Amino acid sequence: MKRYRLSVCKGMDCKANGSNAVFAAAQEELTQRGLAPRCEAYRGGCYGFCHMGPNVVIREDTGRKKDPLSPEDYQLMGWPGEVYYSRMNPERMRRVIAEHIEKDAPVRDYYGDPDEGP
Ligand code: FES
Repeated sequence: MKRYRLSVCKGMDCKANGSNAVFAAAQEELTQRGLAPRCEAYRGGCYGFCHMGPNVVIREDTGRKKDPLSPEDYQLMGWPGEVYYSRMNPERMRRVIAEHIEKDAPVRDYYGDPDEGP
């Protein structure tokens, strides 16, 4: 069974757009589905995609040692299994937990395009 790390950005813009509610929905849904042991939820910094926020990045937890500078908390790394979701809201977040985390089936409908301009 795969393990994941999910991060919801927490810059000012995305907070104004509801990222706190997205994070709360992630925590709630993980707990309700008993998935908390398989997925760590945390707040990343600003990924630089505020115009498409709130943004969520999910990566497979491979036991990789965390870089002390934590670049993965504020930029996409291009690692295998890394998925970037844009324009998230609590409802979309719940679906991502139910499919991506619970069934290991990422939700392509919500993929963000990192090259999309403001
Ligand atoms: S605050 Fe969310 S990407 Fe900038």
